[in-house]
Amino acid sequence: MLLDAKTAIVYGAGGAIGSAVARAYAREGADVHLVGRTRVTLEEVARRIRHDGGAAHVAQVDVLDRAAVAQHADVVAADGGIDICFNATSNDDVQGTPLLAMQFGEFLRPVTKAVTAHFNIATAVGRHMTRRGRGVILVMAGGREAIRGLGGSHVAWTALAGLCRQLAAEFGPQGVRVNAICPGLIDTPFQDRVWRSEQAKKDFGAASGPGRMGTPEEMAKVVAFLASDDSAFVSGHGLLADGGYVVS
Ligand SMILES: NC(=O)c1ccc[n+]([C@@H]2O[C@H](COP(=O)([O-])OP(=O)(O)OC[C@H]3O[C@@H](n4cnc5c(N)ncnc54)[C@H](OP(=O)(O)O)[C@@H]3O)[C@@H](O)[C@H]2O)c1
Repeated sequence: MLLDAKTAIVYGAGGAIGSAVARAYAREGADVHLVGRTRVTLEEVARRIRHDGGAAHVAQVDVLDRAAVAQHADVVAADGGIDICFNATSNDDVQGTPLLAMQFGEFLRPVTKAVTAHFNIATAVGRHMTRRGRGVILVMAGGREAIRGLGGSHVAWTALAGLCRQLAAEFGPQGVRVNAICPGLIDTPFQDRVWRSEQAKKDFGAASGPGRMGTPEEMAKVVAFLASDDSAFVSGHGLLADGGYVVS
């Protein structure tokens, strides 16, 4: 198995992509710590993982609370170490207002949330990983699509990819890899917030390479590869997984 005997933390593990990744990590042999704000959704993901024979633990943590994120990472690290962390928390993604009608504070909200969350996470786990001399830090960013109405979200995703490069430069000499996954359109409830009609969603999906949206399970396979030793020479990278989207 790809992640045998590894310990992983998945932030946003109750969400569409986070839960698919948590299940994929567990299937590949990792002991998975599920983090989010809503216990009941996390417990349901943990129940499915355990039902399939995997190991899962649940923690209610707000990733915007730096002290709480650090405290949770300290507990997991003390219990054998953290090998992998994956952040799929959301950033108030869809704002729906044209930039010309937007206040700057409103535009900045997803950027601030995304960067704060990932900074909190990467520094909390990075402290342990760099001491140990190994580890992988991953974040869900965004693809090439700057879709009307996304407000500051596209900027937030791009900022996350930049933060990963900076972290990779700083943590790399201590054996820690840091990468972003840049997805195209993934068929999740998030898309219902982006598109005003089913037809518009279908048309946009059809315009990308394979003529459809990706699935959370397809993303999870990419994220499992990036977490594994099979990608040992990949760091500071934003891996585009958008099915070959070519239209702007
Ligand atoms: N779906 C797509 O097509 C797509 C495309 C490009 C990028 N992305 C990015 O991929 C990420 C995941 O997308 P998704 O569709 O899986 O989103 P989602 O279903 O909304 O899941 C996000 C998860 O993050 C958790 N969360 C939000 N704020 C949190 C906080 N402060 N502390 C802890 N947990 C928090 C939420 O749970 P609680 O509310 O219970 O905490 C939720 O389970 C997002 O960042 C999104 O921008 C998605």
